[in-house]
Amino acid sequence: MFIRTLSLRDFRSWEHAELELSPGRTVFLGSNGNGKTNLLEAIGYLATLGSHRVASDAPLIRIGADKARIGASVVNTGRELRIDLELNQGSANRAQINRSPARRPREILGILQTVLFAPEDLALVRGDPGERRRFMDELCTARLPRLAAVRSDYDRVLRQRSALLKSAGRQARSKAELGTLDVWDGHLATHASVLLTYRLRLVHDLYPYLAQSYAAIAPESRPATIAYRSATLPPEFLDPAREPRPDDTEALEAVMLRELAAARTKELERGVCLVGPHRDELELNLGDAPAKGFASHGESWSFALALRLAAFELLRAHGSEPVLLLDDVFAELDRRRRTALAAVAAGAEQVLITAAVPEDVPAELAAVPLRVETSGGPDGRTSRIAEPAQPAS
Ligand SMILES: Nc1ncnc2c1ncn2[C@@H]1O[C@H](COP(=O)(O)OP(=O)(O)OP(=O)(O)O)[C@@H](O)[C@H]1O
Ligand SMILES: [Mg+2]
Repeated sequence: MFIRTLSLRDFRSWEHAELELSPGRTVFLGSNGNGKTNLLEAIGYLATLGSHRVASDAPLIRIGADKARIGASVVNTGRELRIDLELNQGSANRAQINRSPARRPREILGILQTVLFAPEDLALVRGDPGERRRFMDELCTARLPRLAAVRSDYDRVLRQRSALLKSAGRQARSKAELGTLDVWDGHLATHASVLLTYRLRLVHDLYPYLAQSYAAIAPESRPATIAYRSATLPPEFLDPAREPRPDDTEALEAVMLRELAAARTKELERGVCLVGPHRDELELNLGDAPAKGFASHGESWSFALALRLAAFELLRAHGSEPVLLLDDVFAELDRRRRTALAAVAAGAEQVLITAAVPEDVPAELAAVPLRVETSGGPDGRTSRIAEPAQPAS
């Protein structure tokens, strides 16, 4: 797929922009702070309904504005769809598909698929388990957009059940309260089992791609492997080589119910929900050692890059080709990793790259340059695409 047009209004440093983009490779060039990453962030937001840099929407809205708009025309195997999002300060975000209002923003998920590689990705390896859960869940949702609803249901039930555990833990528990908890256990197990099914399937499918892409980037290093880590699930579920089965969801629901019952006393004592996918994570290993804490700086970078490349190859192998977004990454990489990344980028349908200077981008990519500049005073600089220089006549 590729993005044919991108429209922004009051998104970060972009007051207004209408960009025509082509398939193939485009590089946004410009000095630090000119708004290059903001562009990729806006595109990533259309694909995931989240920013790779901030957890809330407020910083995305241009200072002084009360809403931001992002829109794109996305061409996928010859068919074009227009998606538009409005991020509102203090009220719900809204979305349109082909200029008709969608019931919820998440209905646009799946229309645009992206894989974004950014300097922040080092946190995939070095950061908290939440970073790796998000990696899994975003990729699961890219593969199966209806999982967004399951994730949001799970989060809601988890919040409500946690509140109940807290209040019930503090006082003498009534029978009614424990009965209510049983009902929440049922809801939690239902949503958790679907989420777990797709996470386990993802790890199973991603595993071979990850091993391959890491070996291509760092052939001299120990082999990279991934596995799903969970204190709740029996070990047989955690082997990435295990073939997913059609009745996995039922089996996982039974495991969840059993484990929730077993943890009940402890959960009431502590007032927190101790069982479920919100406690799990993606384990990253180099040889026999966990990457986190053991991998060198270069190995951690290679692992993060390998995870993104594996995600790209997986999405591509199982459906339509995602747009590849490369935020300022070539400058960080050594020659071998640059070459590995350039090889993938050369074969992708559309690649959008940011760089401070053209020398940072491998010449063989022959990326079309677009210059990003800013105008305005110290308290309100606005990004814009520079007009191409006119050839001297
Ligand atoms: N909500 C906002 N309103 C107005 N301006 C903003 C907002 N959020 C960020 N900015 C501005 O956007 C600029 C940063 O943009 P961006 O991160 O895209 O830069 P960049 O071109 O990628 O730079 P670098 O080369 O350093 O990565 C900063 O100058 C910042 O002040
Ligand atoms: Mg940047």
